[in-house]
Amino acid sequence: MPCGSIPFIIEAMAEKIDPITTVINADSQTLVTWSENYSVGIEHIDNQHKELVSLTNELYRACLAKNDTFEAVFKETMSRMVEYVRYHFKAEMELLEKSNFPDLQNHKMQHDQLIFDILEAVREYNEGKKFVPNNFVRTLKDWIFSHIAFYDQAYAPYVRDYLQSRE
Ligand SMILES: [Fe+2]
Repeated sequence: MPCGSIPFIIEAMAEKIDPITTVINADSQTLVTWSENYSVGIEHIDNQHKELVSLTNELYRACLAKNDTFEAVFKETMSRMVEYVRYHFKAEMELLEKSNFPDLQNHKMQHDQLIFDILEAVREYNEGKKFVPNNFVRTLKDWIFSHIAFYDQAYAPYVRDYLQSRE
């Protein structure tokens, strides 16, 4: 599926995703909560996705804390996020290759695009261009968790079959 379809897919998924990812209330320090609806039925991938939930919430909390430490905390959390997203995507791609997942190239393209978008945002932030951290975290959250809820579900049966065949 071409990358151009992603906004449409996200829109189409919005109804399904909203109940999961909606901010609980205005005072909440939590932007996203883990739900079994996100599960791909592969324990170590689910654990990595849970780590993305907690990093996203950390970034969100960094944005809420509008104090002197904001910049340092935001930068440090962003760099851990980039590192973890890379680590997780690499782990996923290795599994997809071993499982002969037929849509592997498209999946890889989406991962590459997300990494590119994050690095672009980091660059803009570092260059002092107009950058609204709060908006960035919300967009990041939408992208990552739409991807998990929709595209990662597509590979799940292939990877589960592969892992079972090795038992
Ligand atoms: Fe993925």
